Amino acid sequence: MLELRDVDVFIDASQILRKVTLSAGESEAICLVGRNGAGKTTTLRTIMGYRRPAAGTITFKGEAIGGLPTHAIAARGIGFAPEDSGVFADLSVAENIEIATWTRPGGRPAAERLALAYEIFPRLRGYAARGGAQLSGGERKMLSIARALALDPDLLVLDEPFEGLSPAIIPLIGESISAITRLGRTIVIAESNIHHVPAWTRRLYVIERGEIIFAGTLDEAHRDRAVLRVIGGRAS
Ligand SMILES: Nc1ncnc2c1ncn2[C@@H]1O[C@H](COP(=O)(O)OP(=O)(O)O)[C@@H](O)[C@H]1O
Ligand SMILES: [Mg+2]
Repeated sequence: MLELRDVDVFIDASQILRKVTLSAGESEAICLVGRNGAGKTTTLRTIMGYRRPAAGTITFKGEAIGGLPTHAIAARGIGFAPEDSGVFADLSVAENIEIATWTRPGGRPAAERLALAYEIFPRLRGYAARGGAQLSGGERKMLSIARALALDPDLLVLDEPFEGLSPAIIPLIGESISAITRLGRTIVIAESNIHHVPAWTRRLYVIERGEIIFAGTLDEAHRDRAVLRVIGGRAS
């Protein structure tokens, strides 16, 4: 579904990503784990076309997408929930979700996509008329993912969906994300705390200083010395 191979990214003169290679198969959830500044957001933003790879390839459904403009990448079926949620404060919850149905017209009807977003995040249904500014941090995270889902994507890219959330709400959002994979969608999650990686995540990549230093299962990660050195010792 998605494959990055040897992707290098520079910001100004600094090399931020070094030969990043990762892949996510159909209806698979993978997690990119690394501490702050490791290069997670840069990796996701490069997938989304906000950054251009200086070298390497990015393919989605077998087609090269590296360097395409963001709107063209979204139109191919990749939804993005950014780190800061990117909720439009002046729009209602329903309008925030509906916007995505205009970004990628065609395919499933808008009403069906809205219904699915509310089915995955039932709490948002009750808040449909509420302004984006009147939501808690957790609700903004939900809305950001719901909006990405309303694009009707085959792949969802989620930047730190659990960041700043109370321990009570993390499993709730995790369950919603898991439900999205059961619909057959592929998910790439960036996460800075290995203890927040959901148990159902099939594969994990660890990034450190712009390099992938580990690829394997969550269990293997917990036993890997290099991984433990970088992120394993941190409490949740
Ligand atoms: N706009 C930018 N200008 C300069 N440096 C940046 C910019 N964005 C990110 N970086 C640098 O790139 C590195 C990776 O950042 P980022 O991808 O945001 O990491 P993460 O999401 O893992 O915390 C950091 O060293 C950061 O300082
Ligand atoms: Mg980040």
